[in-house]
Amino acid sequence: MHRAQLLLTTILAAGLLNAQTAEPKTAEQTFKNIIQLKGTPADQLVPAMTFISASLGVECTFCHVEGKMDLDDKQTKKTAREMMAMTAALNKNSFGGRREVTCYSCHHGSEHPAGTPPVLESDMPAHAEAAKPAASEGPNAAEILEKYVSALGGEDAIKKFSSRVEKGVIVVGGSDTPIELFMKAPNKRISVTHMPKSESYTAFDGTSGWLGSTGRPPRTMSPAESEAAGLDAEFYLALRLPQIFQQLRTGRPESINGIECQTLIGTRPGRPPVRLYFEAKSGLLLRQVRYGETPLGRNPTQIDYADYRAVDGVKVPFRWTLSRTNGRFTIQIAEVKNNVPVEDEKFAKPDSEVK
Ligand code: HEC
Ligand code: HEC
Repeated sequence: MHRAQLLLTTILAAGLLNAQTAEPKTAEQTFKNIIQLKGTPADQLVPAMTFISASLGVECTFCHVEGKMDLDDKQTKKTAREMMAMTAALNKNSFGGRREVTCYSCHHGSEHPAGTPPVLESDMPAHAEAAKPAASEGPNAAEILEKYVSALGGEDAIKKFSSRVEKGVIVVGGSDTPIELFMKAPNKRISVTHMPKSESYTAFDGTSGWLGSTGRPPRTMSPAESEAAGLDAEFYLALRLPQIFQQLRTGRPESINGIECQTLIGTRPGRPPVRLYFEAKSGLLLRQVRYGETPLGRNPTQIDYADYRAVDGVKVPFRWTLSRTNGRFTIQIAEVKNNVPVEDEKFAKPDSEVK
């Protein structure tokens, strides 16, 4: 009777086992000169470097000889190693092994942490921050989600569509480049950026993510990148949030540029949390903040959604800005078409070089 279910359970268990036994490569197996970050998954090494650079407000060449990252020619790189050991010891000895202190705790975007607080810049008394209402005073998670779904047009309207094609521009450093996005339910997505002489792709095929550009072999995303791309690919995100996250709890209300927002924090076992900000008045999702894990601290990615417009009865954000510690871009959509047929092959990673 329950054979099919049993089989599925067995398969899932085997999958888990595989995930546990198939050890991912460590940093020291992939790179040449790893001392402090031994045991780190190889795909977290460069994200850890991004974290350090943002924490100190410096470029890679502050510590590295360009193109020869393994060399220890710069004193700053040696100091950084000592700092890694110090930070690990601080957390071990003073915070029960929890990663409470990171490079950013002291450095705050500067090479030289300030040890002395600043004097007042004005003779007006510093205003005590207005007491914020406690999370329990606002709507609960289910109410926030319900309001979001109805702000978008309601569950029935959302489910009327199973694919969407968007055209617009990606804006980086003030210049516009044409971009097309193809999305298909339940979770396939590809964006194609049309540069003057080449195209670049960011895709999620329903299972994993890949990146590519004309004339080069495509690259499979790391598990963390893939997970983020998978979240972006959720076609019915508003309806699926309770399934995606094991727990969704309300956070403290916050404001974004003076706009009052309700917040939800989504958690899944063993992964960093995702924060969602909903405009209190309209109920629409205005911001998502997610984190990439590294051994030294978390790299945040923030996506701000704006310019919601109704297309065939469902609201779609026509603009969003994705910001990281080391980069930022905005996508402005001009045209949205629902239920355009899109072949599954469109999302598949090419075997060899991207044409
Ligand atoms: C503040 C100093 C500092 C900055 C800034 C920094 N790194 Fe590093 N990097 C290190 C240290 C220290 C190591 C060695 C870590 C260890 O011993 O485990 C390292 C190791 C590496 C390695 C491994 C090289 C090898 O083969 O052994 C790579 C690759 C790397 N960094 C890339 C980068 C990139 C890319 C950036 C800029 C985004 C960057 N780093 C910024 C300090 C820095
Ligand atoms: C507990 C506070 C603290 C933490 C945590 C911390 N640092 Fe530092 N760091 C300092 C102080 C203080 C200095 C000396 C500042 C100066 O030279 O003015 C310093 C200096 C440095 C320098 C030398 C800067 C230069 O211009 O020569 C590097 C590189 C550095 N830290 C990297 C890191 C990295 C990477 C981490 C995280 C793994 C980290 N630090 C964590 C406090 C800290």
